[in-house]
Amino acid sequence: MQMRHIAVAILLLCTFHCSLADQNITAILDQNPDYSVLNSLLTKTGVASEINSRNSLTLLAVDNAALAPVAARLGNDLTLNQVADILRYHVLLQYYNPLQLSQLSNGTTLTPTLYQSTGRAAGQLGFVNLTDGSSGSVNVGLPVKGAGFNATILQQVQNVPYNISVLQLSSALVPMGVLATSPVPAPSPVPTPAPTPTPVPAPSPFPTPVSSPSPALTPELSVPSESPIGSAHPSSSLPFASVPVHMVLLICVALYNFM
Ligand SMILES: *[C@@H]1O[C@H](CO)[C@@H](O)[C@H](O)[C@H]1NC(C)=O
Ligand SMILES: *[C@@H]1O[C@H](CO)[C@@H](O)[C@H](O)[C@H]1NC(C)=O
Ligand SMILES: *[C@@H]1O[C@H](CO)[C@@H](O)[C@H](O)[C@H]1NC(C)=O
Ligand SMILES: *[C@@H]1O[C@H](CO)[C@@H](O)[C@H](O)[C@H]1NC(C)=O
Ligand SMILES: *[C@@H]1O[C@H](CO)[C@@H](O)[C@H](O)[C@H]1NC(C)=O
Repeated sequence: MQMRHIAVAILLLCTFHCSLADQNITAILDQNPDYSVLNSLLTKTGVASEINSRNSLTLLAVDNAALAPVAARLGNDLTLNQVADILRYHVLLQYYNPLQLSQLSNGTTLTPTLYQSTGRAAGQLGFVNLTDGSSGSVNVGLPVKGAGFNATILQQVQNVPYNISVLQLSSALVPMGVLATSPVPAPSPVPTPAPTPTPVPAPSPFPTPVSSPSPALTPELSVPSESPIGSAHPSSSLPFASVPVHMVLLICVALYNFM
């Protein structure tokens, strides 16, 4: 009798445990002090736990110096929610290592980000345009014709194969629509004490320093070539989790029969 309860408990525990993602973006970025501003903003906005709950992602990481202009706007003309959406725009819902980036079909692709998954992005404004640049570099821009490219992928910073790839991006991108999502103050019918005029966020994205000529992704950055190219479907890496479940299921069934 008691053995059966234990067997069921083991099964339940495993079901919970095995469905949890083991990756921790905070711990991954902790290894690179150059990204401490990004790391703390990811935690502060809660985007870190959104990343941890998914698989097959690419984080376009902007280092402390390049992220400073955005960080400085938090609490001024950007709310925490707006900064969160800006950060989500840097999380691609597909795993890209340098090798896969070098093999974009026709040299260009549109890829969805975590910002798109919020449902707040109109149309495909939550996608980024990845396009081959000169000398092997890959440029990243808004998914709008003629938007141009303000940012370039510089190198791979961290890699947990097929779960998360952290690539350095030369500067932060502000997706279209984010600046318009600030809460509209409720219209006050009575002109009581004049509301203090709140600064209206400028409609144009902030002036980030345009990236200086960037080194191309060097071939040494490529991961071993046995990597399955193009295998990175947003939710395709669950085989990890299913194996232990099956094994424990077998054990549980065996215990049950033993009774
Ligand atoms: C990748 O993610 C899966 C599912 O979340 C997890 O079980 C596995 O441990 C992760 N792999 C690595 C190398 O962290
Ligand atoms: C992730 O790692 C950080 C830093 O090591 C740690 O403080 C935090 O508790 C971890 N989060 C989870 C969910 O394990
Ligand atoms: C690549 O370009 C060719 C020729 O322009 C076109 O036929 C093909 O559909 C393109 N492939 C993709 C994936 O866009
Ligand atoms: C992505 O950018 C390239 C280069 O500017 C452009 O040719 C392509 O049309 C863009 N893709 C989309 C869907 O806007
Ligand atoms: C790209 O840079 C230009 C010129 O500095 C700026 O007007 C534009 O808003 C920037 N775009 C993004 C997405 O940051």
